[in-house]
Amino acid sequence: KKASIGVTGLAVMGRNLARNLARHGHTVALHNRSEQRTRDLVEQFGDEGEFIPTYSAQEFVDALERPRKLVIMVKAGAPTDAVIEEFAPLLEEGDVIVDAGNAHFADTRRREAALRERGLHFVGTGVSGGEEGALHGPSIMPGGSKESYESLGPLFESISAKVDGDPCCTHIGPDGAGHFVKMVHNGIEYSDMQLIAESFDLLRGALGYEPGQIAEVFRTWNTGRLDSYLIEITAEVLAHTDAATGKPFVDIVTDQAEQKGTGRWTVQIGLDLGVPISGIAEAVFARSLSGSADLRAASRGLPGPTRAPLTGAAAETFADDVERALYASKIVAYAQGFNQIQAGGAEYGWDIDLGALAAIWRGGCIIRAKFLDDIRAAYAAEPGLPTLLTAGDFRKAVEDAQDAWRSVISTAVRLGIPTPGFSTALAYYDGLRAERLPAALVQGQRDFFGAHTYRRVDREGSFHTRWAEDGRPEAGA
Ligand code: 6PG
Repeated sequence: KKASIGVTGLAVMGRNLARNLARHGHTVALHNRSEQRTRDLVEQFGDEGEFIPTYSAQEFVDALERPRKLVIMVKAGAPTDAVIEEFAPLLEEGDVIVDAGNAHFADTRRREAALRERGLHFVGTGVSGGEEGALHGPSIMPGGSKESYESLGPLFESISAKVDGDPCCTHIGPDGAGHFVKMVHNGIEYSDMQLIAESFDLLRGALGYEPGQIAEVFRTWNTGRLDSYLIEITAEVLAHTDAATGKPFVDIVTDQAEQKGTGRWTVQIGLDLGVPISGIAEAVFARSLSGSADLRAASRGLPGPTRAPLTGAAAETFADDVERALYASKIVAYAQGFNQIQAGGAEYGWDIDLGALAAIWRGGCIIRAKFLDDIRAAYAAEPGLPTLLTAGDFRKAVEDAQDAWRSVISTAVRLGIPTPGFSTALAYYDGLRAERLPAALVQGQRDFFGAHTYRRVDREGSFHTRWAEDGRPEAGA
């Protein structure tokens, strides 16, 4: 008997995907650069399903039924190219190579084009949910050709998370579309995490709450509209006591957030596409600032306001206000991310169904949340929606949040608590809804010093003002 699919690269993510596939009744061929990992997997988990262990590239390829489907789960970058080059020469027309790592979508586009020339399908696939998700049901975002999805889709849908019986897996679009949306998923993940972290800092700084109390606040929030995996795990982390010291876990961790790069890519591409994803950018910068140890050490003595916690009525409503501000800022973060996907789709001709994408993010992935069902509904009702902010329920939520959002940020400013995520979300919101922006003045400045020309509100065409001469406008170049 041959295998319906193969997995090469059996570190924890690859191993868990292979086990998930086998547990769902698929025969899985296994391959790893060092043989020991393959043996270990069969020894420890061999009774979970049907595995075919193989110990050479040729053996691996021969174990697969046609069209062959092989999943690569190795470190993104050069290792992926090396593995592709190892297997591609052994494959036949119509076979499918899947890259399930966190590749940059531009690499995926390059690889897809090169392999298409050789008659092979290359499917860059986003997989979210970490190790647990890979084993018990991730959210899966495959790109690549429609044809490749015909044979891959049923396999992936069977192992993905399910929400109301629907699989958290859908064909995203051609070539790099899957990895692109996974990248933006991670950008949104950064932004959501930053907003939650700022909420914690506000509750602690303005109310003097202990981490354990704040865990309770998050637990309560998790029963409402903020119900999400990230809020749930935040409560767990905050409630955790360090076994070695007996202190709150969050107080014994170095306050320097690391990153592996997908958030940074999201921002870089956002700049290239000209999409204002300020919430994601601030989240990336906040991690960079936290990690700038020398700079922070040098700045520690800088003056700030005297920090007295809130009291009385202001203290009583504060936690509820933070919930409102968090929810409104979160809508902005997702609105920006979905706009980036819209822009990427337009740039690369992907025709991404945003409602279907929101639907597969309802389960399995790191940003899974009740909220994503509302996003799904918003795009289902209006596929060309310019921004989530104007969709019925979201519009109402930001309307209800107006006072709270502004007062939370003013409190933060007064007490000197940094809230880059909350603040940029509100600035974006106010920028979008403004009748007139000072961008007109920027255009004037550009025309003054560089004759860069401007457009007028009352006439068609581009104009330049003779600043040094008679101050009159002339039709520009
Ligand atoms: C997921 C996650 C995952 C990502 C980690 C680490 O969807 O399962 O997004 O793919 O690698 O969250 O990201 P950072 O190390 O950059 O925080």
